[in-house]
Amino acid sequence: MIPILDLKQQYKDMQKDIEKVVLDVMQSGNYILGKNVSALEEKIASYCESEHSVGVASGTDALHLALRALDIGPGDEVITVSFTFVATVEVIALTGATPVFIEVDENTFNLDYKELEKKITPKTKAIIPVHLYGQPVDMSPILKIAKQYDLYVIEDCAQAIGSTYKGKKVGSLGDMGCFSFFPTKNLGCFGDGGIITTNSDYLAEKLKVIRNHGSKTRYYHEEIGLNSRLDEIQAAILRVKLPYLDNWNKKRREVASYYNELLRDVEEIQIPCELEETYCIYNQYTIKIPNRDKINDYLREKNIMSMIYYPVPLHLQEAYGYLGYKEGDFPITESLSKVVLSLPNFPEITKKQQEAVVETLKKAIAKTKATV
Ligand SMILES: Cc1ncc(COP(=O)(O)O)c(C=O)c1O
Repeated sequence: MIPILDLKQQYKDMQKDIEKVVLDVMQSGNYILGKNVSALEEKIASYCESEHSVGVASGTDALHLALRALDIGPGDEVITVSFTFVATVEVIALTGATPVFIEVDENTFNLDYKELEKKITPKTKAIIPVHLYGQPVDMSPILKIAKQYDLYVIEDCAQAIGSTYKGKKVGSLGDMGCFSFFPTKNLGCFGDGGIITTNSDYLAEKLKVIRNHGSKTRYYHEEIGLNSRLDEIQAAILRVKLPYLDNWNKKRREVASYYNELLRDVEEIQIPCELEETYCIYNQYTIKIPNRDKINDYLREKNIMSMIYYPVPLHLQEAYGYLGYKEGDFPITESLSKVVLSLPNFPEITKKQQEAVVETLKKAIAKTKATV
């Protein structure tokens, strides 16, 4: 079996160190907002080239709190893509604001800035570009338009920790960067976790208040907050893992580049593109391929755990029907959702395993051609 990623192997490689820090936390009796969270916040801020970072309970909460910190709510509009994980859009709806979808670029899978000005209205407050699969969004034009129209930019960096755009880390480009430590991310914890980066003292302070029941001093609540704290055990594990991140990202890039070599001449497949002046950390290695569903089924029958991120765009999901979008509104997004396929990519995968994935993929293509 070739998994989409191998968390057990990663754990084995660092088992002693992780078990030691978890035990230390358990013995310390200090489980919430202790020294591990503040040490991790310092390290992540510096890793992401930002002034501050604020640990929260998940990547979803990171986005939610970012919107809350900007006082975005009913009557406001937030522009984002429909081709993303649901959390990006869910949190906009949760604040009471209206998600406004925008088309993506067919090669990068990311927000197409050329469509942006058409979507801006007097109600628009913010834009959420998503660095999907770890591929940095072409940010310069977006930041320029945001400045011109006085809009906030919240980067959804859930899949992109360590990616860079024009030499700068993602998460340091907009007003805030929102990261997920979900186990499948390049830097994952052993449960849920997230963090928000920002260069603003004001926003960092406000985020810390919101994540902790709107309170600076216990039992005094200056605003309506919630409980969204990264816990000490997760922070301690992440502190052990962070020093490995650059090497893991480098390995994922090597895996991507070997897939590129193996797949370059397979005419049915379009390999992922990388924009100039970007460094993609390949949270996913995602190809475009016709007959995607049949190919995916075939691979899985052969124990190769390919994945589809994401089969149904958010503007066509039942939960977001109230927004009034219909099939045909975003042709590129809709066609991508039918052809994208992510192949196993993780630092520990061997070249032999990659060759097996590609051989099986070629057989799947031949088989689906024969049955079309
Ligand atoms: C693009 C994107 N945004 C947000 C999230 C939400 O992160 P979490 O699962 O940590 O809540 C994810 C997680 O998969 C994601 O991929």
